[in-house]
Amino acid sequence: KSVTPLIAGNWKMNGLARESAAELTALVERMKAVAPAACDVLICPPATLVREMATLAEGSGVAIGGQDCHANESGAHTGDISAEMLKDAGATYCLVGHSERRTDHGESNDTVKAKAEAALRAGLIAVVCVGETLDEREQGRTLDVIAEQVTHSLPSGATAANTVVAYEPVWAIGTGKTPTPADVAEVHAHIRSTLAGKADASDAMRILYGGSVKGSNAAELMALENVNGGLVGGASLKAADFWPIVETGL
Ligand code: G3H
Repeated sequence: KSVTPLIAGNWKMNGLARESAAELTALVERMKAVAPAACDVLICPPATLVREMATLAEGSGVAIGGQDCHANESGAHTGDISAEMLKDAGATYCLVGHSERRTDHGESNDTVKAKAEAALRAGLIAVVCVGETLDEREQGRTLDVIAEQVTHSLPSGATAANTVVAYEPVWAIGTGKTPTPADVAEVHAHIRSTLAGKADASDAMRILYGGSVKGSNAAELMALENVNGGLVGGASLKAADFWPIVETGL
């Protein structure tokens, strides 16, 4: 594949400083041993840990990202964090539109797009997440739902350099269930064709698969056409679990 893969870990609301620093240090050590790595590696810790993890990861090839950002630069938004603040803390990426944000915080495609645009303005790479629910899949609506989400969540000015798309079927997140390789390939091909004409260099834009990725299924999923890496939840929390997944990109 001509595109440099991205293997990303989303720690979600997990991690206190001491254990997180130990896990990140273990990952950093392994990355340093294979430098220069053939894939990009990203960890998105809780916001409280971004600065510390960014300092620990410096120069290792492990990038640090936020899990969400507000659409505005600053202001009266209690509890929120701006893309600029994440950048200031050492982040270089930011997830937007994760299904847990769409569900728990009622984020629409318009909200996600505004957040992705804020990430780009701050100089962060936006990882725009999309994915169908089980109901939508069972009704045969997967491809339509994904095309709609990609079309309306993608930031204007998206390029292969500043934007990544992550496909995560909601029913596959944290459940141990994954779509068949053929189903993943079908959705990724559909995302690729949806991107054409909407983003600069859409052929080179990375499309990640996420949802119950682990060491035992990563190689098969990552080898699929139009799968340019993974977005990993549970299996990214421990360096020993995450590393076999990173290795599929090396
Ligand atoms: O952002 C990551 C995903 O939601 C996947 O989570 O690997 O625990 O299924 P999971």
